[in-house]
Amino acid sequence: MKSIEELEKEYRKRTPTSLKCFERAKEYIPLGVNSNFQAYDPYPIFWDHAKGNRYWDVDGNEYIDFNSAFGSTLAGHAHPLIVKAVTEQLSKGTLYTAPTDLTATCVEEIKKRFPVDMVRFANSGTEATMHALRVARAYTEKEKVIKIEGCYHGMHDYLLQSVEPDLDKAGPDDRPYTVPQSKGIPKDISKGTIVVPFNNADAMQDALERNKGDVAAVIMEPVMMNCTLIPPRDGYLEKVRELTEAYKAVLIFDEVKTGFKVAYGGASEYYHIKPDLITLAKCLGSGFSLAAFGGKKEIMEVIGPGGVAHGGTYSANPLAIRASITALREVLTRENLAHATKLEDKLADGLRKALKDNGIPGYVNSLGPCGMVMFTEHEIYDYRTTVRYYNSDRLKKLWFGLVNNGIWIAPHTDEHWTVSVLHTEEDIDKALAVIEKVAPDLK
Ligand SMILES: Cc1ncc(COP(=O)(O)O)c(C=O)c1O
Repeated sequence: MKSIEELEKEYRKRTPTSLKCFERAKEYIPLGVNSNFQAYDPYPIFWDHAKGNRYWDVDGNEYIDFNSAFGSTLAGHAHPLIVKAVTEQLSKGTLYTAPTDLTATCVEEIKKRFPVDMVRFANSGTEATMHALRVARAYTEKEKVIKIEGCYHGMHDYLLQSVEPDLDKAGPDDRPYTVPQSKGIPKDISKGTIVVPFNNADAMQDALERNKGDVAAVIMEPVMMNCTLIPPRDGYLEKVRELTEAYKAVLIFDEVKTGFKVAYGGASEYYHIKPDLITLAKCLGSGFSLAAFGGKKEIMEVIGPGGVAHGGTYSANPLAIRASITALREVLTRENLAHATKLEDKLADGLRKALKDNGIPGYVNSLGPCGMVMFTEHEIYDYRTTVRYYNSDRLKKLWFGLVNNGIWIAPHTDEHWTVSVLHTEEDIDKALAVIEKVAPDLK
């Protein structure tokens, strides 16, 4: 059985050029990366290029990619159809800051999947959730927002709250305090965000009742996908839908991660719930910066002069929109999603077997083409059960073992894995062979 120190030694031996890149980058760039999520110990791998379902790092090591850019590249990397579409667009100009007919086409594709009447585009999930909140506030003429502890909705001040709070500061389980996730967030902003646990409809009702008449919106990831992978319990989302209607709060499903993946029409389709607003990003652009928020006509119509401001120089730029139309029409089809989901089922089953054969406590959560190994014997149903019971040391060992053998997953519990539409049976067999090899080190 290899120790974590031995695994780290192997990692360092394979990736000396990444270390050099990292040393250089951190001179000029805080943490050496451009998103805190890209920083991890002992140092991040620096990539050279990606194609299909493979990455190559700056040392020339090849990896089968199961992270899929935090679940954004369900279409794979450099998919030939998307490359063709954006290559055509490149020579026609990439930014007009003026309308094109392409955007309505893209909205029509979104409407085939999600229960939305109207849509506006943005560049990132952060922008989409920020604008959706503003729209909800304007529509309801109320100000507070309820979010779920452990859900992530981007980097803006209103929702960068209680994403991974220290439990010593986070208050009671059923009435969590709001803990800012960053320095620099004004205290008054945190006061407007109320935090509740996932999978607890009573706590949601309690929060709505305590803030009766003040809650503009409830925003949630319908499946927690920034805290391992935690599905909603039976009836939970239905109850949240009922409560938000009763308390006249706009229900926003943040489908930035669930959208296009857990089903063709995201979690809304999978769980048969119609939220009032939906936010999308990641797979929507399939490798290009594109996001969207949309929903009921009467709510979205608050956008306009004298109403809600929304804009952006790169909003709905034709390059990202062309990539999106091609991805939605030709790549992220029901058939291709079924293919990726079938492969994920095989991967998850193989992992379950490896856990059992090696007597490692744990189980595997799997939804659509996404999955996550849960290193614990306890049921994980919210953020706090993850913090209390998930064995992150075991995940770190698994991560080293996989990465040292050419399988790429995320290095922390924030992320699940995603099988892309370009993965093959052979890729899954290779991954399972590596899992079989490294599983004894996890005991
Ligand atoms: C559910 C969810 N919402 C919003 C965001 C923010 O998206 P972006 O990184 O594009 O700003 C993320 C990013 O991971 C996310 O997972």
